[in-house]
Order: sequence, then C-alpha cells, then structure tokens
Amino acid sequence: MARRPHVLVYDSGLGGLSVARALHRLGGGHVCLSYLADTGGFPYGDWPEITLRKRILALMHQVMQTVRPDVVVIACNTATVTALAPLRSTFAVPFVGTVPAIKPAAHATKSGIIGVLATPSTVRREYTEMLIHTYAYHHRVVLHGAPHLARLAERRLSGEPVAPEDIAAEIAPAFLCEGDGRRTDVLVLGCTHYPLIREDIEAAAPWPVTIIDPSPAIARRALEVAATCHREMTETCKDHGPDRPAGWVTDAAGQDRLGPILVREGFSPVGVLDLPERDRP
Ligand code: DGL
Repeated sequence: MARRPHVLVYDSGLGGLSVARALHRLGGGHVCLSYLADTGGFPYGDWPEITLRKRILALMHQVMQTVRPDVVVIACNTATVTALAPLRSTFAVPFVGTVPAIKPAAHATKSGIIGVLATPSTVRREYTEMLIHTYAYHHRVVLHGAPHLARLAERRLSGEPVAPEDIAAEIAPAFLCEGDGRRTDVLVLGCTHYPLIREDIEAAAPWPVTIIDPSPAIARRALEVAATCHREMTETCKDHGPDRPAGWVTDAAGQDRLGPILVREGFSPVGVLDLPERDRP
C-alpha cells in the first residue's frame, strides 16, 4: 500500500513554523508532516560554528533513529549555512536547506541597497558571504545580525507582550540611507523566525520596503523532493500515526514552553528527543 512521504521540518525553535505553514497551505495533504524544535539549543544565533555543527550532526543521528523521516527540511538559515554540506554527506535522507534569499533580493531592488536581517551566526558564515559575492556583488548589501529578534518572535508567539521599540531597535541597522538619497528598498528575512512577526517588522520599519520571505519557495522545493521519494515507498506510514509524536523538542523545558503551540499548529502529540549529555550546550 502506498503511503505519504514523511517530511520533518526542523528549526532551533518556532521559526520553522513559517515553512510548515507554507507546506500545509501548498500541499500538506500529500505528505506526513512532523516538526522538530531544538529547544535545548535555542537560540542558535550565538553558537560558535564548530560546536553548533557538531550538535546539529548529533541531533540528526538521533532523528534518523527515532523520527525516521523521508525528507528533512532544515527550516533554519543558521543551521543550513553551518551544516548543510556535512549533513548531506553523512546521511542518505535528502535535506532541503534554507538560506538568506539574496538572489531574489538582487533582482527586486531598484535602489541597489538590500538589507539582510539574520542571526549573528548567519551573518558571520562564509556561506552567506558566498551568496552575496555570487548574486549581489553589484549591489550594496547591509548584513545585520539581530541579537534578540528570534527570541522576541518566540515571545510574541507565546502570547507575551513585545514592545514595538524593541523590534525597531533590532531591525534598524539593516536600513541604510546614502548621501545621494538612495536607501534600502528590499529587506530579506534571513531567519525563519522573522516571517512569524512580519507585521511587527513592517510596522517598526523606518520606511516601507519590499520584504522577501522565502518560506513558500522552501515549501515548494520540499514538496518536489518529497514527490520523488513517494514513488519509492510501498509500506504504510508506521512512523507517523496517532501514537507517535508529530512534534518533537529536545528538552523538558521546551516541551512546557513550546508544546502547547506545536499542538495548536497541528503537531500532536509532542515528544522529547533525547540528546546524549555531551551534545548539550
Ligand atoms: N530560525 C533560525 C534561523 O532561521 C534561528 C534562530 C535562532 O536560533 O537564533 O536562522
């Protein structure tokens, strides 16, 4: 009997919900979706590169044994620019990555000034520099690592109040106005948490800009990859039934904090994926 491919959406926290929601909208019925938030490692934005890469690899080893997805969507820019290549060379399962959408931004800008809002880790990675050199070398790219914006997005999603001034302070450095009057006209949301507070970002922006949210493109790519797996599968979906978690976190505190939100988003029940002690931050 044919079964639907099992697609795991993975992020450090709730940010991947921006991609999961797009997946639901665009073709959720064709796949079994589950969600993993590495709550024990959140936020990824300030981890050193090598330590984070090791953690992500250890986490995926655990995922392959316990969750057993057919496709993994790394719905996290920081994880993708840190570990996509080693993940692909270590595991047989296909990985769909998420990187700052510099290429579409380079096409969309008229002023030639692009703002990229991402985590501090993402702006430091060579991968991000390479994207700029390849696609936007002829433009001015203002890369800004927002230290607290992912955390503010999680607070907002948990229903806690977030001051508009705090969001304004986090995004302001991505906006540039040159002496000749040209100013940032395109803003790339280079962290999957940010589309979840897109309206707050728009309201806090010093002037209107075109916002680039890559979630629909990532979701389309994930569905294409899943459709390829589909042809190879013949057994029932034993890994993803009513008794199996559809939502995963990596610590008990994360289960308390994010559990109700994941359930609300359709990822129920929520289980804790145990990481060996040495891999904890
Ligand atoms: N959502 C993640 C990203 O796209 C990272 C947020 C964080 O853990 O700092 O980069």
